[in-house]
Amino acid sequence: MKKVLVARPIFPDVIERLRQYFEVDANPGAPLAADEFARRMADRDGALLAGDPVTAKVLEGAPNLKVVSNMAVGYNNFDMQALNAHGVLGTNTPDVLNESTADFGWALMMAAARRIAESEHFLRAGKWGTWSYDAFLGTDVYGATLGVLGMGRIGQALARRARGFNMRVIYHNRSRVAPEIEAELNAEYVSKADLLKRADHLVLVLPYTAENRHTIGAAELASMQPTATLTNIARGGIVDDAALIQALRNKTIAAAGLDVFEGEPNFNRDFLTVPNVVLTPHIASATESTRRAMANLAADNLIAALGEGPRAGNPPNPINPEVLKK
Ligand code: DGY
Repeated sequence: MKKVLVARPIFPDVIERLRQYFEVDANPGAPLAADEFARRMADRDGALLAGDPVTAKVLEGAPNLKVVSNMAVGYNNFDMQALNAHGVLGTNTPDVLNESTADFGWALMMAAARRIAESEHFLRAGKWGTWSYDAFLGTDVYGATLGVLGMGRIGQALARRARGFNMRVIYHNRSRVAPEIEAELNAEYVSKADLLKRADHLVLVLPYTAENRHTIGAAELASMQPTATLTNIARGGIVDDAALIQALRNKTIAAAGLDVFEGEPNFNRDFLTVPNVVLTPHIASATESTRRAMANLAADNLIAALGEGPRAGNPPNPINPEVLKK
């Protein structure tokens, strides 16, 4: 039997599915430290992970490894160059999380715009004495301009929801999306500079790459409207968190909603002293049905990539399919 590592706790029935095909080493606890992860990968043929760094060092120490299956659509935890060099397939879980993640982007954007978290903390702290005409004034979402940076599948799902809010949709992306998608979403392609300037509510939905580290820094924040909100459901590192903290303190922008952080879970603790930011612990895809779908898709990828199950040899979501041909 081939050997696999399940590096994070996942639904027990998904682990049982894997046990039908493989000898499974399942980590039931906290994420494995780098050395322990490398040690437990050493004799494995495959692994199901969620964000664990797969580095050149891990790959060098795991000569039998054929596949690393990420339970996430983002795969910036994979050193793709090293995966290709070692002929190891990487897989991810796109599509199944689009709608839940887009819902959550809206939840964060609206919470930031309408100061939901800030006002709830005020109420919980027993500070609510009277109704006041100017308590927690926010910015409107209905009829405003939604800016989307990264118009992939999640960006499109997010933009599609804007119709019900009578919003103007502007977007920027590495490349323009097909005209029929622009027409369906009523979305206007603009430069990044225009996006920053014109968006009332800017949502980041782009994948993390080394090139887009700190895509939003002090200069970009300064070019936004002082009434604007910024929501990040993409990846930590796309925003310069220290610059954002400064911009929120100075009211360079009105508010932010963040699900992802540089260095998470060890995020910049200065955020905790900033009232006009809503903070959540990387849960945009976290609904029961979506996380189940992600876990099962990650298992499907692992099973198929290791030559088992109904799709043997043909995993649904290869990131670097060229290694399959070698
Ligand atoms: C993803 O799928 O990339 C989400 O961020 C969950 O990690």
